[in-house]
Amino acid sequence: MKKIFLFAALLQLISAQENLLINVYNRPAKSLSGQWNYIVDPYENGFYNYRYEPYDNAKDPGKGAYFTNAKPKDKTELVEYDFDKSDTIAVPGDWNTQKEKLFYYEGTIWYKKSFDYRKKKNTNRVFVYFEAANYQADVYLNGTKLGKHIGGFTPFNYEVTKLLKEKDNFLVVKVDNKRKKEGVPTLNTDWWNYGGLTRDVKLVETSDDFIQDYVIQLDPNDRKKIKGTVTLNGSDIAQKKIRIIIPELGLDQMIVTDSSGTASVEMQSQKISYWTTQNPHVYNVIVQTQKDEVVDQIGFRTITTKEQNILLNNTEIFLRGISIHEESPVRHGRAHSLDDAKQLLTWAKELGCNYVRLAHYPHNEHMARLADKMGILVWEEIPVYWTISWDNEETYRNAEHQLTTMINRDKNRASVIIWSMANETPTSDLRNIFLGKLAAKTRALDPTRLISAALEQSSVPGNPNVKIISDPFANVVDILSFNQYIGWYDGLPNKCKDIRWNITQNKPVVISEFGADAKYGFHADTLTRFSEEYQEYLYKETLEMISAIPQLRGISPWILVDFRSPRRTLPNIQDGWNRKGLISDDGKKKKAFFVLQKFYNTKAAMNKK
Ligand code: GCU
Repeated sequence: MKKIFLFAALLQLISAQENLLINVYNRPAKSLSGQWNYIVDPYENGFYNYRYEPYDNAKDPGKGAYFTNAKPKDKTELVEYDFDKSDTIAVPGDWNTQKEKLFYYEGTIWYKKSFDYRKKKNTNRVFVYFEAANYQADVYLNGTKLGKHIGGFTPFNYEVTKLLKEKDNFLVVKVDNKRKKEGVPTLNTDWWNYGGLTRDVKLVETSDDFIQDYVIQLDPNDRKKIKGTVTLNGSDIAQKKIRIIIPELGLDQMIVTDSSGTASVEMQSQKISYWTTQNPHVYNVIVQTQKDEVVDQIGFRTITTKEQNILLNNTEIFLRGISIHEESPVRHGRAHSLDDAKQLLTWAKELGCNYVRLAHYPHNEHMARLADKMGILVWEEIPVYWTISWDNEETYRNAEHQLTTMINRDKNRASVIIWSMANETPTSDLRNIFLGKLAAKTRALDPTRLISAALEQSSVPGNPNVKIISDPFANVVDILSFNQYIGWYDGLPNKCKDIRWNITQNKPVVISEFGADAKYGFHADTLTRFSEEYQEYLYKETLEMISAIPQLRGISPWILVDFRSPRRTLPNIQDGWNRKGLISDDGKKKKAFFVLQKFYNTKAAMNKK
């Protein structure tokens, strides 16, 4: 029964996306990165006419609609914008850190990129692929609307085969980063609302019938078996042969698609080198049809829990982690590049980590792909953060779409072991229903990984120093996670000694946040807030306190690097930065970094015994 369930789940995941391409990194693509023209449009004058009617709905939008990229036909004609005479901005990249006048800007900015494009083969198809755009993108090619995407951290693409010309194409994108009550995230967050085409944009060319999607994983019920599902996209995809090759394992199998263009594979091998954090072995997996071929690097492992333990390949593991925001170290602004990912994950490794929590939204794809290669386990989450509109059906659909896209993009990444539904969301019946639906969706889409969320913790009535996890969602998740700030938001670090954690659920505990602000280079005694000594003292006290929790199987302290937040305004200390980083925004390690590093190195040495 379980096997049928798994197979059905994989199918549902593949069909869940509107022809979202995966593994774009390994496909031939023309990057549209570089300088784009842009127009700042706070009144959305390029989108609505003066009666506030969207030009999208007009039969003839006229030259006032920015997406027409209009030019006056002669000196008499009135056109009150001109992309080509407007300033330029780099894509990928948030606009806040590229233009001082846009640092605090929240609203619409129009981007325009002109390009020529000649297809390699006339029968091929072409897609424009966006790795992310924060927060809402309306996309037009050569004056035709391709679609609208909501959600600032997940990829999307549109087929442009029939619209492309060999010369003078113009891609116009309206990006609006205004925060919305019904949004995901909602109005209030503790991070900077970086707007724009924050990740790469590229043209991906495929054969007319191509490999749309695949998932190739170790069968959780049989560690000698690799199973998978492949789906084709095109007009002639039924009863088609697909070849799955894993050269290093000597596996080479032919499967045939059903009437819907989907096929499943099961391959046995006695010599699989399982992916682990010490030996992050990834295999070249080739998926081939007569017309298309995609190669991916996939690690084979299982991740499960057994009572209070987390098991990687049936071996107990302690998650020595750290939380990370998608903030480019040293350069600042939204991280998006492989170099950004290398810097962040190298610092995590230096800290002694075998695990990272990518907070509070799906990070760029480089992070999970690099974590696969570096042997770092990953927690990924969607920005269902704080006070979401639990009663709004559109909000739920948005959250579920972001969740589905995140899972669909990274389902072949061995490093990703936990899908998180939420962070610090106030408990209520509506919230429990909302999160319960997300959890059910996650299990349906991917039953091979664990689910968690940063749950609410509280005190026993009448005894504030006895902490419990009373959050109803604790009954749903595989891993009990929660953020706790005793010693920073709740008393001073010495309060840790008075606290007892009375966790009754028989599940692994991973503390998803603790920490304190410290301004790098500010030295004082251990009770002076924002000093490195205070942060160091809090880490020492907290590590001692939580080590007494019998179910503790991991931590991801808050946070690897200082990050920008409009909530943090203390002059000469925060200046718009949340200073809980163990590393400063210009890459310097604070004293607490070495406290955690020592704790992890000791833990690692103990576990090797
Ligand atoms: C919260 C929240 C983080 C925030 C942190 C803080 O737990 O999850 O997003 O940045 O606390 O207050 O620094």
